[in-house]
Amino acid sequence: MTNTIVNSWNEWDPLRHVIVGRADDCHIPPAEPALDAKVPEDSDMRGQWGKRPQDTIDRANELLDTFARQLEARGIRVDRPTSIDHSKPATTPDFHTDSQFGCMPPRDVLLTVGSEILEATMSYRCRWFEYLNYRPLLQKYWEEDPNFRHEAAPKPRLTDADYHPDYLNEKIGDAQRLKWAEEKHFVTTEEEPLFDAADVLRFGRDLVVQHGFTTNLKGIEWLRRHFPDHRVHTVNFPGDPYPIHIDATFTPLRPGLILNNPQRRLPADQRAMYEKNGWEIVDAAQPAHNAPPPLCYSSTWLSMNVLVLDPKTVCVEASEHYQMEQMDKLGMNVIPVDLRDAYAFGGGLHCCTADVYREGTCEDYFPVQ
Ligand code: GLY
Repeated sequence: MTNTIVNSWNEWDPLRHVIVGRADDCHIPPAEPALDAKVPEDSDMRGQWGKRPQDTIDRANELLDTFARQLEARGIRVDRPTSIDHSKPATTPDFHTDSQFGCMPPRDVLLTVGSEILEATMSYRCRWFEYLNYRPLLQKYWEEDPNFRHEAAPKPRLTDADYHPDYLNEKIGDAQRLKWAEEKHFVTTEEEPLFDAADVLRFGRDLVVQHGFTTNLKGIEWLRRHFPDHRVHTVNFPGDPYPIHIDATFTPLRPGLILNNPQRRLPADQRAMYEKNGWEIVDAAQPAHNAPPPLCYSSTWLSMNVLVLDPKTVCVEASEHYQMEQMDKLGMNVIPVDLRDAYAFGGGLHCCTADVYREGTCEDYFPVQ
């Protein structure tokens, strides 16, 4: 096996090396402010916490292992995290929570920009130490690639000052949530910079970042200062009552083409950059399911949480037949991947992966700003 090179500038160039998560030891964490704001009000997860049932962990791992083998069969190198003990509490001088989360969605924690992998601040207390699951890999990359920049954003304190107390109410209702989303009133305050890596999309010189529950404006400003050679754009999707992570909402497929969740359209005043540069934003197909699987944080829109392998090839969850059909019409070769029984562990095909190497360099896709 050749030595590692860390290099990835966007979401679509040919993928050659990737991390695929594991469901090992995944826990439903106890109540805490940011997590409670995200768990849907009618969810079967409310009031439960502890290790997930072993048979569901085994099934999710079977699917993740099969996905890893499918990628390897296409010549893509796949690495896997080393699970820490998520039953251990997370305690700092500022907070305590009785368990942690898991290591199925590396995309939430690790942001690859060029030769750098940046560990996000995270915004849930139960995810504060999640980077430890990836440290064996990141240390190995650091040994093997002399140009690899291993970076970590400042760890946040996550005191109660980080969260708006009005989101602690168990019965807020979608109408109120949508009003708050429209007003950009999210559960996280501006106490300190916060971001999850899965709120960021990479378009070469441009980084597009969702402002929502898991990323605040100071987090976006921190990214702007950290990547001075990039243009960092803030986006909002007011139709989402639980706005975390951009990758079930806005999905670039190749230069010039983005899928957008039709319930969470990018507002007209944020479209100029795409329109001026001839990019098309099309509504994603409807999900095939009416409800998420049991004990799942995410919405049915994981249908559009796809992994692009190159500008003509995309992995789509195998039961999402409307999404597969649409990809086909858009000229993409579709690789169906069975993953639905792993959704509950932290998301879909984009969430459960993190880029290490894609071919290509940093290009300017939006020269007209
Ligand atoms: N933001 C992830 C979802 O739609 O569930």
